[in-house]
Amino acid sequence: MSTAPWLQNFWDLAHATVPIDADPPDEWIAALVADGRIRGTVLDAGCGPGSNARYLAGLGFPVLGVDLSAIAVEHAARRAAEAGNKAHFLQSDICHLCGYENRFDTVLDIGCFQSLHPADRPAYVAALHRLCRPGAVVFLRVFHGEPFQSHFVTNGWDINFVAGRELNPFTPWSFAEIHYA
Ligand SMILES: C[S@@+](CC[C@H](N)C(=O)[O-])C[C@H]1O[C@@H](n2cnc3c(N)ncnc32)[C@H](O)[C@@H]1O
Repeated sequence: MSTAPWLQNFWDLAHATVPIDADPPDEWIAALVADGRIRGTVLDAGCGPGSNARYLAGLGFPVLGVDLSAIAVEHAARRAAEAGNKAHFLQSDICHLCGYENRFDTVLDIGCFQSLHPADRPAYVAALHRLCRPGAVVFLRVFHGEPFQSHFVTNGWDINFVAGRELNPFTPWSFAEIHYA
């Protein structure tokens, strides 16, 4: 059973009370763009206020940002409309998202996997596989130590690369590149 209803309340409250909209976008995403690693149609999973989605759409990528929080999605869509930005946004529990099968070549997951209840993680990873085309790549940033590997390898993905990096002394992150197997 999905835990989305109470998590949606949690994330709505978080987005309503703690503005986490960051312009410019995540520096890792900017580095991936500079290296030519982002390609095709992009899914921003758990897009939050949408700054990464708007950044990529501004560069010409077709982008769909999906978030459980209606407040985050309203914010993201309003910022895009105000800027004439072509990113699309959708409020949905991405673990059960239907109607977008076989659509995406690149997935950004900046904090979505780690936000999910552990019981929802297998459905999330399987959903990403269903939503992606063969050859797709997931760029995942998670708190260091989150056990994401086993979920991906048992749901159709290969872990190609994991790097640990400390963005600051208090927040150790893992950065992973995960390929459609
Ligand atoms: C740590 S925030 C990161 C937001 C954004 N990626 C960023 O970097 O600013 C995690 C996001 O995942 C979203 N989220 C959590 N569970 C979700 C689900 N089941 N489906 C879609 N989004 C979800 C939350 O609403 C929240 O916006």
